[in-house]
Order: sequence, then structure tokens, then C-alpha cells
Amino acid sequence: MDERILKRYPKDVGLRDGGKVRLRPLKEEDLEKLYEFFLTSVTEDDHMLLRDNVKDYYVLEKWCKNIDCDRVFPIVAEAGDGRIIGNATLHKREFGWSRAVAKIRVVTCSECRGMGLGTAMIRELLDVARLIGVEKVMAEALSSQKGAMDALEKLGFQKAACIPGLASDYMGHSHDLCIFIYTVNPEWDAF
Ligand SMILES: CC(C)(COP(=O)(O)OP(=O)(O)OC[C@H]1O[C@@H](n2cnc3c(N)ncnc32)[C@H](O)[C@@H]1OP(=O)(O)O)[C@@H](O)C(=O)NCCC(=O)NCCS
Repeated sequence: MDERILKRYPKDVGLRDGGKVRLRPLKEEDLEKLYEFFLTSVTEDDHMLLRDNVKDYYVLEKWCKNIDCDRVFPIVAEAGDGRIIGNATLHKREFGWSRAVAKIRVVTCSECRGMGLGTAMIRELLDVARLIGVEKVMAEALSSQKGAMDALEKLGFQKAACIPGLASDYMGHSHDLCIFIYTVNPEWDAF
């Protein structure tokens, strides 16, 4: 990963309640803390709608043991007591038609929603995207994830498509899948 990006961390950001969290790249030793985060801080509703089974230790072990920041750049938000309270990733492809497109995923702990953490983490990954020359950032949200859709739109993502009933949760209910696109402005100074 580009030195300019790694030099950004750790990065402290303020939350709406006056608290502070530290953003930094995920590291292999975070496995237990990341597992704890997904196990205790993400509600069943969110969990059911996420793409991966993040309550499966082996899924997280694979993430932590195979960190390749040029392919998937993962950041975590760490609270003052060392707990992980947010996880966000920027997924990039090396070749093919989508090499100028990255995909973003973010989850914050259910008790700290509405404090500005999700916004801070998405903003951070949009800056990283700009620095590595990404032109468009894509995000997916289900129509039932109102918080996610609002958060993305407020940050300047445009809803590009909504595919009715494409997604189904673990209970067998179907949901519309919405695709959001953010156009990166290469002129902005991300430092
Ligand atoms: C989407 C998500 C990351 C937002 O995280 P967050 O920490 O609440 O983010 P913020 O505090 O910055 O809030 C951003 C916006 O989300 C919306 N939001 C936050 N909490 C909300 C709540 N409890 N109810 C409804 N909307 C809410 C608001 O529009 C808010 O904007 P505002 O602060 O200007 O009012 C979080 O809801 C989440 O982890 N959801 C589950 C996973 C997911 O859906 N990921 C999206 C796929 S990319």
C-alpha cells in the first residue's frame, strides 16, 4: 500500500458525543477483538443483512491472516478502551473494466450509531480511494437498511439502481438491493 496512505494512521476523530476514536488499518493481531465486535456489537437484524457471516470465527480469521491492502484495505475504529467499534473496507480490483472502481463496506457498533462514526469511516475510505486513483466508489445497501441509505446519500453517493427482491435474508424474506455510486473528485486534497 502507498506510503502516503499508511502515514495517515493512527488518525483520531471526534464523535458527536465529545468522545474520540482512533482509525487505523486492521492488523492480524486484531482477530479476537474483531470477533468480539461482530459477536456483541452488531444486532441480529444487521447481521442477517450483511454479506458475510461475520459471527463465524473462521471467516474473520481468514480476513485477518490474509491482509492484502492493495486488494482490500481494511480499517477499524478503536475506542479509548481498545475495543473495536467499527470496521470498514475498500475493495479494489487490479485489472479488468472495474479497475477504476472500488467497493466500500462499513459496519459500526449498534450502540454508537448516530454519533458520526459511520460518516467518519466512509469519508476516510473515500480519501484513500482518491489517493489511489479510484474514480468511482460503489456501495450496496438493502432498502430495509434506512440508516445506511441515508448515510450514503448524505455523503454524496447517488442511488444508481435498485433491484427489487434481489437479496434474501436468513429468514427467507426478500429485500430490494440498492447500488450507490460516488464519483471521486481527483482535484480535492485528501491530506
Ligand atoms: C450505515 C452505518 C455504518 C452508519 O453508521 P453510523 O455510525 O450510525 O453513522 P453516522 O453516525 O455517521 O450516521 C450517518 C447517518 O446515518 C443515519 N443514521 C444513523 N443512525 C441512525 C438511526 N439510528 N436511525 C436512522 N438513521 C440513522 C443518519 O442519516 C445519519 O446522518 P446524520 O448523522 O446526519 O443524522 C450503520 O448504520 C451500520 O453499520 N449499518 C449496518 C451495516 C450497513 O448497513 N452498512 C452499509 C453498507 S455500506
